[in-house]
Amino acid sequence: MPKRITLKCTNHITRRRFAGGLLQAALLAAMAPEFIPLRLLAGDNTPSKKIQLGHIGVGGQGAGLLRNFLNVDSAASMAVCDPFRSRRENAGKLIQERQKLDPKLYNDFRDLLADKSIDAVVIATPDHWHVPIGLAAVRAGKDVYIEKPLGHSLAQNQAMLAAVKKHDRVFQYGTQQRSGELLKRGVELVLNGYIGELQRLEVWALGGHGGGSLDEIPVPDGLDYELYIGPAPMKPCTKDRITSAGSWYCSDYALGFIAGWGAHPLDIAIWGMDLDTKGPISFRGTGDFPTPNDLFDTCATWDVEVKFHDGIPMRFMSTNHAAPIVKKYRDDNQGDGTTFFGSKGWVSLSRNGVCASNPDWLKLKQCEGSKRVLYRNKYYKAFVDSVRERSPSVAPIEDALRSDAISHLSLMAVKSGGEVIWDPKKYKIKSAKELSDQMSHPIRGDWKQS
Ligand SMILES: NC(=O)c1ccc[n+]([C@@H]2O[C@H](COP(=O)([O-])OP(=O)(O)OC[C@H]3O[C@@H](n4cnc5c(N)ncnc54)[C@H](O)[C@@H]3O)[C@@H](O)[C@H]2O)c1
Repeated sequence: MPKRITLKCTNHITRRRFAGGLLQAALLAAMAPEFIPLRLLAGDNTPSKKIQLGHIGVGGQGAGLLRNFLNVDSAASMAVCDPFRSRRENAGKLIQERQKLDPKLYNDFRDLLADKSIDAVVIATPDHWHVPIGLAAVRAGKDVYIEKPLGHSLAQNQAMLAAVKKHDRVFQYGTQQRSGELLKRGVELVLNGYIGELQRLEVWALGGHGGGSLDEIPVPDGLDYELYIGPAPMKPCTKDRITSAGSWYCSDYALGFIAGWGAHPLDIAIWGMDLDTKGPISFRGTGDFPTPNDLFDTCATWDVEVKFHDGIPMRFMSTNHAAPIVKKYRDDNQGDGTTFFGSKGWVSLSRNGVCASNPDWLKLKQCEGSKRVLYRNKYYKAFVDSVRERSPSVAPIEDALRSDAISHLSLMAVKSGGEVIWDPKKYKIKSAKELSDQMSHPIRGDWKQS
């Protein structure tokens, strides 16, 4: 008699993978195995045995993410959604070429989310869609990889945290610098006290710019403009509104690079600060905006003093403000970076490179001390592994909320010209009521966030 093989189903993925492999199970049973050779299980790479991914938003970044996920053997890209027909079709062709299967192509994300065979979704839409689609996804039982920055309002961020917790979903933030080996080493130097007591931080990111045509054009053939604009105010279509730049620099869809690019170095700051829920408590700063007649109307430059609970200051700046300050200790100061200053030295971390007051620290593959961050060197595989294993995310939603709040509150400080006082534990603004009112913003039509 063949021995019966019992596989315990611990979650929906295991069940689905097992159900999808009934034929193989029958074959294995017919082979009367004493046990299943590991190589058979490990070597099974048919789509039904992989984590099934749906890609929502396949413009510049979404198409790049698709290519990255196509390199993850344990995942299969099964569906694509984008209201630009040409973009979803191009993504579909790429999947066809690489995986030799026809993915499902959707105009409307709600149809993709209704597909029960999809385990997880990768969301790379313009920022104003991140949370509305993210919420719908976790409610539909999908795990989510969501591009940075997180939400278009602080209230959206809070709703996203609650939904991820309630539905017990894996969330991974699009802050891929967390898989940078040198950045991880630098963060662990800070956490393990190489720089002594943390005294202050400097964080900088590329600023934005004005411009962008406001001249109305007909909606291009093959674009579902209603779905593109979604919860944002309905405005005439222009050639720049429906581009990457439109989605990065137009306040209808984004906060600008204070969040869009700031997310990366702020994420490294949060990673290295070990602050749990104690986060920042006060914000005061200045900044510049393009003329109100530009389509790209978000904050272009900023210089904000952020204070943490124990008085530690962080100066958060656009690169133009940071350049003369940062060049005193590093010459490659373009782009973005995070410098931690302590009582015994400093460590400066950037995607362009890392440096420290003591260069020998950076030669250590693993520094001394017990504090370790959760690290995986392959960022996209890390997401698929977390989905498969139900294991902690390398870039969890709690950290996304903390770093993204710094962008939102910095922008409020710049706009108001006064101090913004924040309670990070309650996730509430304690200063003027008109500022608390800005924690949420109007949502168009039926696109309510919760
Ligand atoms: N992690 C990084 O380093 C990085 C780099 C670049 C961009 N990003 C982020 O990626 C996101 C996309 O940026 P981009 O430069 O690719 O912009 P993009 O305009 O090129 O792409 C956005 C895509 O989303 C699609 N879209 C719009 N509404 C949609 C909807 N309702 N459903 C599905 N798709 C929809 C658009 O048609 C477009 O194809 C932004 O949030 C941006 O901040 C991250």
